[in-house]
Amino acid sequence: MTQRPTFTEADIPRILAELTLAEKASLCSGQDFWHTQAIERLGIPAVMVTDGPHGLRKQAGETDHLGLNASVPATCFPSAAGLASTWDPELMVRVGEALGRETRANDVAVLLGPGVNMKRSPLCGRNFEYFSEDPHLAGELATALVRGIQSQGVGTSLKHYAANNQETDRMRVDARVDERTLREIYLPAFETVVRRAQPWTVMCSYNKVNGTYASQHPWLLTQVLRKEWGFEGLVVSDWGAVDDRPAGVAAGLDLEMPSSFGINDARIVAAVEAGELDEADVSTAAARVLRMVARSLPALAKPGSVDAEAHHALAREVATRTAVLLKNDDGALPLDLDSSAGSVVLIGELARTPRYQGAGSSQVNPTRLDSMVSALAERGLSIPFHPGYRLAEADVPGGAGAADDRTDDQLREDAVAAARGRTAVLVLGLPAADESEGFDRTHADIPASHRALLHEVAAVAERTVVLLANGAAVALAEWESQADAILELWLGGQAGGSAAIDLISGDVAPSGRLAEAIATRLTDIPAQLNFPGENGVVRYGEGLFIGYRGLDAMAAEVSYPFGHGLTYTSFGYSDLAVETLEVTETTEASDAVVRVSLDVTNTGPRAGVAVPQVYVGRPASALARAPRELRAFARVELAPGERSTVRLELTRRDLSHWDVRRHDWVVEAGPLVVAAGASSRDLPLQAEVDLAAPSAPIPLTAHSTIEEWLNHPEAGPALLAQVEELGAMLDPDGADAATAAFLGAMPIVKVPMMGLSQAFTVETLEHLLGRFGEHERPGATEGGASA
Ligand code: BGC
Repeated sequence: MTQRPTFTEADIPRILAELTLAEKASLCSGQDFWHTQAIERLGIPAVMVTDGPHGLRKQAGETDHLGLNASVPATCFPSAAGLASTWDPELMVRVGEALGRETRANDVAVLLGPGVNMKRSPLCGRNFEYFSEDPHLAGELATALVRGIQSQGVGTSLKHYAANNQETDRMRVDARVDERTLREIYLPAFETVVRRAQPWTVMCSYNKVNGTYASQHPWLLTQVLRKEWGFEGLVVSDWGAVDDRPAGVAAGLDLEMPSSFGINDARIVAAVEAGELDEADVSTAAARVLRMVARSLPALAKPGSVDAEAHHALAREVATRTAVLLKNDDGALPLDLDSSAGSVVLIGELARTPRYQGAGSSQVNPTRLDSMVSALAERGLSIPFHPGYRLAEADVPGGAGAADDRTDDQLREDAVAAARGRTAVLVLGLPAADESEGFDRTHADIPASHRALLHEVAAVAERTVVLLANGAAVALAEWESQADAILELWLGGQAGGSAAIDLISGDVAPSGRLAEAIATRLTDIPAQLNFPGENGVVRYGEGLFIGYRGLDAMAAEVSYPFGHGLTYTSFGYSDLAVETLEVTETTEASDAVVRVSLDVTNTGPRAGVAVPQVYVGRPASALARAPRELRAFARVELAPGERSTVRLELTRRDLSHWDVRRHDWVVEAGPLVVAAGASSRDLPLQAEVDLAAPSAPIPLTAHSTIEEWLNHPEAGPALLAQVEELGAMLDPDGADAATAAFLGAMPIVKVPMMGLSQAFTVETLEHLLGRFGEHERPGATEGGASA
């Protein structure tokens, strides 16, 4: 093996001084699909970056973007939809450490993930790769995952920044999002991870955000990411996301991936030579690439090794924790598989040919693969298996099901006959062709063949247990009453099959909770009105109201609420205590403002994990608000009868909204409802408290209303002093309240124009504006038009 050249961060100023402009430009793009540019004359090596979030996809030999060459074997963990359902940051650290070890051992500097885009619609083709519809939950879990990976001396790439919430037209669609929605829903998960874990890299998305490509968006890449959040790492483009490379360099896009075969390097040089791009910006980008390379060299020099068996065991443990027990009538689960094996039948090709990961750039070549059928055999249990339906050829390349030439009808009939009078464990789910990177789903249904099978099996079976394998939520309302129990397994990774048997046998109790609400009808989801957009534009017209926020605001029925998940025991919630501290001018964003404590008791017969959740609502708010928003959660393991006190803190930031007039986070004073319990719709504990906060005056302009001027602590009295007669007309408690309301809503600039007051001239207005006014500022994303 040749010795890799090496340098440290301390060498970067010297190296920069020695680099030519062309060399600096060349560092700003990849050498090929997966490597940074080497500059041999200065001892700068190329390092590899590669996918993906839940396992390493490193192509062996020649590399290409389409993954035509097989990848090296790596542990395939459950994808993010499942990881999020654990609600367990500590577990995320352990998964991250394992991913980091594999990355390092395979000579890779940066693992390209995790993805923290919000699940705006359940139909987004990449929802399996994303955590949640809730920014708090996604931010907490992704922070832990990034910390775990980076603890191994390799980097991560937080992606896809920003507003990449669909696959339809993903390479150019313009996501039009208003400023408050961006700040409160689509950016916070990125912000949390950046502020708390400093990912080595952030990957910009393909799409435009309010008219400007994310890859050349100064407001996103520099103003927000670096200046506000303090990002210290490198911004890399999604693969092929660059549109105007010099504009990207100026905006803060450091590294273009993959290589653009010198085309964009030449454009950077030409732009500098033409005086259109500052060479200092090129140097900054090149320095950031050098820093990323330098940071990775110590770990890559000592790659270590991977214990594939230990990682498989971890993948199995994690998969047991990702599963969500949606329903379990009359304790249908767990099954005593050892003593009642003869009365149980396993049905569904997915039990033999598992669907354990999603399609696209995150596809891992697993070190081994457990199916439910093989896991049963490994336990020495001979439970009869019937495929029940066929999978598409693409899902079973050379698999056992491929050789079976029975039709769907024949397979179903055989399975139904075997289920008669028995407990049927039915594995249903989404075929790979239904969800993938690159396109969105057009519906949320599992295949008709799966539904028909369930219908007929449930009619003859003693009990029917449904296990679901899918990356994004599926519609359940039409058929769920036919099942006694439903266990949502998501895409469980390479050990998902054995984990499923661990769960149904009761060796392990389910502990997952939904990280996304399962709507009864797609049409109840406000975002569906504008999904996936048209003519290259998608307008996020539902604003803040995605996921449970929208469903709750519309009081829509849900199949299962956000946060829901059963286990083999039950819990009681009691003794909620809420203490508020006054918010003052000096309260920091991370300071605790509300302290919550509550007791959780295991009221059932078995040990189990409770996930108490705390939601906040602002009933008297002057703003559009979701009825409640998740602000804190915990994970508590309890023995039968055990009781535990959970203490959680809500910070100033947790209680703030984004004020579009001040372009800042603001706490609204007034009543606050703190609700706690087992899901967003099961909140037995509630307390209403009053939150004291300074009433920050809004910036006044000529277009602020008379009422807004009067409400301002200094400008109000000054205005009244100028125009006493107007004051009498404006007194809401005076003789003419209707006139007061009418005038109060009028922009102050109209007063002289409409001759409302002799004393209030254009000069009076200018005088007041000079003392109290602000320039009217543009809105959301200065890189482009606001939505
Ligand atoms: C995907 C990214 C991925 C990259 C490299 C892109 O198409 O959007 O998530 O990291 O390819 O494979």
